[in-house]
Amino acid sequence: MDKLSIQGGQPLSGRIPISGAKNSALKLMVAALLTDQPVTLSNIPDLSDTRFLAQLLATLGVEVYWPKGASVCHLNAATLTSTIAPYEQVRKMRASFNVLGPLLAREGHANVSLPGGCAIGARPVDLHLQAIEAMGADLVVEAGYVKAAAIRGLKGAHVNFPFPSVGATEHAMLAATLADGETILENAAREPEIADLAVCLNAMGAKVSGAGTDTIRVTGVPALSGVDHKVMPDRIEAGTYAMAAAAAGGDVTLDDAPVAALGACLSALREAGVQVDADRAAGTVRILRNGRRLEAVSIATQPHPGFPTDLQAQFMALMTLADGTSIIRENIFENRFMHAPELTRLGADIAVRGPEAVIKGVETLHGAPVMATDLRASVSLVIAALAAQGETVVNRIYHLDRGFERLEDKLAGCGARVTRQAD
Ligand code: EPZ
Repeated sequence: MDKLSIQGGQPLSGRIPISGAKNSALKLMVAALLTDQPVTLSNIPDLSDTRFLAQLLATLGVEVYWPKGASVCHLNAATLTSTIAPYEQVRKMRASFNVLGPLLAREGHANVSLPGGCAIGARPVDLHLQAIEAMGADLVVEAGYVKAAAIRGLKGAHVNFPFPSVGATEHAMLAATLADGETILENAAREPEIADLAVCLNAMGAKVSGAGTDTIRVTGVPALSGVDHKVMPDRIEAGTYAMAAAAAGGDVTLDDAPVAALGACLSALREAGVQVDADRAAGTVRILRNGRRLEAVSIATQPHPGFPTDLQAQFMALMTLADGTSIIRENIFENRFMHAPELTRLGADIAVRGPEAVIKGVETLHGAPVMATDLRASVSLVIAALAAQGETVVNRIYHLDRGFERLEDKLAGCGARVTRQAD
């Protein structure tokens, strides 16, 4: 298993190009199942998660052409050869579960494994199933699989989500594109990736309106066509590098950044005393911090446009060095503080009480061996390591490879001393 060695205490200076959004790319790839024509996705991040989903799609009969390192992925679901998404594949990556709706819409039946829990929480799929069932599918949960049938096709439905789940909103939207009649999704999630998916679906001939608001309307059409779509930039990757620059200090400009989607993150950084110059038209964000100590800022994670749970760990890493005490409340997932004890190994002062973490800022962190159990937790350790004195070795970096494209190259390009070591 590869490790990352980081010699901290070095300010960062330079430019970092932001890749396509993982969490958008995954749903856009699934959308290829809805048409028998070619779908070409550009600006697609080459990550273990996107590669993994490409493998699942290939298992279902989708022709995938995506050379290693290429940022364009060609998908062609002219003929589907299977409607079974096996446990081994769905268990490893939850977004795989979203093939259920499109398979049902296209083939009238599907057999998809339940994803099970994961390191950050139980993460049930009841809201996904509620929506698909409302569209007229017969669902049986048996031996860990959802066996679904909609022999006469899916029909439009009115779904009022009790919680704005990102995955369930996207899943329902995908399935509704080919349903008979109108689907209305209320209390829908408003994450920017949902709007990106709607742009792609509409370019395929779907009729989706309201994506990005809490009410989405989808009028079903008989068939969708192929599309060329550019994946939106990754707001979580951009926020992560912004926090890395803020933690280590220096002067870093993010290129191809989704400025409009970064509101809560950039506000929190400004509140902490970081200079943030964002240019929406140019898609750039310049982060500057020279010498001055950060101020403590409390945040609570919320569905978009609130502070994203996917940046909570990174913000905690930053707050470990702030002047004062900050409180971070995690409202989305019930077990997303596993980075706290690892940050403590670097000298941070963090007490976790249920859904809240109380962080008393310290003046200096010191390098240590650490490891993490999920993607964003791992990168929070990288951020802390960049600011710490001495060497930190981050173990189990396969988590990082799930969601950060060329992380060590991008950081090294700004002067960070980061090297990957094979075990
Ligand atoms: C997406 O997960 C993202 N993943 C997550 O990113 C992100 O943290 C999350 O949205 C919230 O922003 C992808 O897009 C692939 P949810 P998702 O459904 O769709 C509960 C990362 O690090 N819930 O909005 O699974 C659920 O348990 C990942 O890139 C139900 O109870 O998130 C959670 O507590 C991690 N029943 C909350 O809702 C359901 O049927 C939010 O989940 C569905 C969800």
